Amino acid sequence: LGPLAACGGDSGGGGSGVAHAATKTGAMRTQLAQDTGFWNQVEAMFTLDPTKVFMNIGTAGSMPKEVLDYFDNESRQLARDSGNGYGNFLAQRQQIAPGFGVDPDELVMSYNTSAGMCVSILGIPWQRGDVVVTTNHEHGGGLTPLQIAIDRYGVEASYVKLPIGNNQSAGDYANLFEARIQQLRVQGKRVRAMMWSAPTYKTGTMLPIAELMEVVKRHGLISIVDGAHLPGMMAYNYAELGMDFMSGAGHKWQCGPGSTGILIVRNKVRTSNPTPLPPFFPVLSSGYPPTQPPGVKWAERATGSTATYDIAAVLQSTGSMNAPMFRSLAKACEVWDRIGRQKIETYDLALSSYLKEKIAERWGVDRLYSPKDDPKLLSALTSFNPFANAADVTNSQKSSQFVARLLSDYAPGFVIRNVNCPMDVAGSGVPDHWIVRISTHLWHDAADIDRLVDAMWDLSRKMG
Ligand SMILES: Cc1ncc(COP(=O)(O)O)c(C=O)c1O
Repeated sequence: LGPLAACGGDSGGGGSGVAHAATKTGAMRTQLAQDTGFWNQVEAMFTLDPTKVFMNIGTAGSMPKEVLDYFDNESRQLARDSGNGYGNFLAQRQQIAPGFGVDPDELVMSYNTSAGMCVSILGIPWQRGDVVVTTNHEHGGGLTPLQIAIDRYGVEASYVKLPIGNNQSAGDYANLFEARIQQLRVQGKRVRAMMWSAPTYKTGTMLPIAELMEVVKRHGLISIVDGAHLPGMMAYNYAELGMDFMSGAGHKWQCGPGSTGILIVRNKVRTSNPTPLPPFFPVLSSGYPPTQPPGVKWAERATGSTATYDIAAVLQSTGSMNAPMFRSLAKACEVWDRIGRQKIETYDLALSSYLKEKIAERWGVDRLYSPKDDPKLLSALTSFNPFANAADVTNSQKSSQFVARLLSDYAPGFVIRNVNCPMDVAGSGVPDHWIVRISTHLWHDAADIDRLVDAMWDLSRKMG
C-alpha cells in the first residue's frame, strides 16, 4: 500500500540506469499531480510566507488560518472573562482520540514530545540494573530523561547501532533488537524496556513499530516510542500497535500551537499487547490520586480490557493550563480528521518517495541516508549527502552553509535543516556525518520538489 507500490514496482526491476529511473519518477510525478486541485485548496488554508518553501516541518509546523483565528478568539474570550485553565479537557480528548485509534483515557494533550518523554520515562519505578535497549540515533528529548534514570536510579542503557541508507529492510530492526536482548540476557542483564524513535529525526527512517512490538511482547518489556513526528504525518492506530507510551509533537506535522504534544499511554490490556501494564506514577499532575471512579486506588491498573481509571485525565490535570492552546490543538486535529489522516499520510509519503527517487537519480542512491524501497521504513523525512565531494559530509560548517544558502541564494528560498548522523555508537571515534534533512507535507506539490532538487544540485556544484 506504500506510495512506491502504488507507482509500480521497486528499483530492482529490469531496465537499469537513468532511463528506468526517469520513467519511475515520471510515473510518480503524474500520480502526484492527479489531486492537485485538492492539495492547492489545502495549501490555501495556511498563512505561509510565499517567498519561502517551508520544508522543515520536522522542526516546526504552521497553524492553519482557521486554527489561528480560533486560538485568538479563545484567548480573547478567556481574557474577557478572566478565565482559568483548570480541568482535564475530557471533551477535547474525546474529540481527538478516535483519530489516533485510542480511547480518551489513553490520550493526553502534553506540552510537547520532550515533556511526554519525561512523563513516561520518569514515571516508571526503575530498579537498579534495569536495562533499556535503545538506539544511537535518539533525540535529546528522550535521551535526557533516560540519562536521569541512569544517574538517579542506576538504570543501564544499551545502544543498538542503526543501519543507514536504502540497503535495509523492516525485518532488520526486529533482528537487531532481538539479538541485542539475547546478548544482554546471556550476560545476566535484566532487560526491562525498549525505547526507540519512529521515525528517527536524523535519517527519517521509520523504525517499524509493529515489528518491534513483536520483540517487546516476546520479552514482556515496557515500550517507549519517541514519535515526535508521528501525529499529523502518519495515520497510525495506537490501540492496535499497543505500545505503553508514544510521545509525539502537536506543533510539528499536526500543525497545532507551540508547546503542544500528543502523549498516548496504554491504560488497558488489549489482545494487541497482552503484556501487563507497567507500574507507573504520574509525576506531572495536580489530579493525583484519581477520584473517579470512587474507591479505585491509582495503582490498581487494568488487567483486562476495561480501564480502572482515566490515566489521561490524571496526566492532563496539571494545574491551570493554557486552555485556548490545548483547545486549538484539538481544532488542528479536527482539521486533520476532516482532510483525512490516511489521505495526508499517503500524500506526504508519495512526495517524499518522489524526492528520494529524484535524489537517487541525480546523486546516486548511495547518497541517501533514508531508505526508499521498503514501504515499512518510509517517513516524510528525507536525509542525504548533497556535496559534490562525498567526503565533505563530515564538514559541519559546509553543511550549515548549504542550508543557509539554499534559503538566501534562491527565490523562493528553501527552508530545510542539517543534522548530525552518528555512524556508530558513542565513543567509537567514527566522525558524525552532517547530512541535510527535508520535510515534505501537505502544503507541497511535485513542482516544489522539482525546484528544490534543481536548487540543491546547483548549489552543491557551486560549493564544489
Ligand atoms: C525524534 C525527536 N524527539 C523529540 C523531539 C523534541 O520535540 P519537542 O520539541 O516536541 O519536545 C524532536 C524534535 O525535533 C525529535 O525530532
